[in-house]
Amino acid sequence: MERPEPRMLLEVQNLQTSFFTSDGVMPAVNDVSFSLRRGQTLALVGESGSGKSVTAYSILRLVQPPGRIVSGKIKLHSERLGEVDLAKLNERSDTLYKVRGGVISLIFQEPMTSLSPVHTVGSQIAEAILLHQDVPKAQARAHTVEMLKKVGITRAEACFDQYPHELSGGMRQRVVIAMALVCRPELLIADEPTTALDVTVQAQVLGLIKTLQQEIGCAVLLITHDFGVVAQVADEVAVMQRGRIVEHGDVRAVLKAPQHPYTRTLLDALPSRRAAKVA
Ligand SMILES: Nc1ncnc2c1ncn2[C@@H]1O[C@H](COP(=O)(O)OP(=O)(O)OP(=O)(O)O)[C@@H](O)[C@H]1O
Ligand SMILES: [Mg+2]
Repeated sequence: MERPEPRMLLEVQNLQTSFFTSDGVMPAVNDVSFSLRRGQTLALVGESGSGKSVTAYSILRLVQPPGRIVSGKIKLHSERLGEVDLAKLNERSDTLYKVRGGVISLIFQEPMTSLSPVHTVGSQIAEAILLHQDVPKAQARAHTVEMLKKVGITRAEACFDQYPHELSGGMRQRVVIAMALVCRPELLIADEPTTALDVTVQAQVLGLIKTLQQEIGCAVLLITHDFGVVAQVADEVAVMQRGRIVEHGDVRAVLKAPQHPYTRTLLDALPSRRAAKVA
């Protein structure tokens, strides 16, 4: 018997986000639609400038002028907040405040965007807990140390009092993941979470995200330009080119028989495929 599909979590419908510059209007995200069910992983792939990050920022309403969402819906079906159209929320609404870092968390493309250089690692994670949960400080500290251990930091107590620059790139990314998941979001958006890391650390960090996703039960929107990463972790893949989704489907189906020429170009760039072609 087939298992019932998990419930819907996010539906992006006909999203358009444009930048209004002196050179004209640039539709960075152009009529984009996709959906994500609870616990599932959707990979958003595409070359540089195709609109992946702007899609992520739109969902969290982080697009700054001269950019703005022009049209479309971003329907969130949240267990904690109920049904919300994120595209329509007021900038200062209490709901948006609860969404950011609470129901949906974002791992930025640049790890240092998430971390303040002048605060200790532990105080930043504890702050995230205190923002979203009504717990005493001592409990936030204990919870932070536990989370640091969970992301594989062995000297977690010592790490609590360190500054981001004192850590290696791989450790910093683990800290960012701890911060993103400490409030048990319903959705994690990870924007190129492994690009800045060397290959062996990349695999460890991806494995870690996968393990924690299963433990928390959150959905993941994973942004990458690397089809190798997609094959390793995603259920579905959406391929973006110049602001549009040009192909969308089950990962195995797309890998086996890509329909769009652009998807084939991206797949041909994979080292394993290149090697197969040469052989
Ligand atoms: N502040 C801005 N002002 C003007 N245009 C912008 C701005 N931010 C992004 N854009 C444009 O929006 C488009 C999409 O950018 P986006 O950052 O989403 O690309 P991306 O797919 O995430 O690329 P990358 O893989 O390099 O991170 C780009 O063409 C970019 O030039
Ligand atoms: Mg980007």
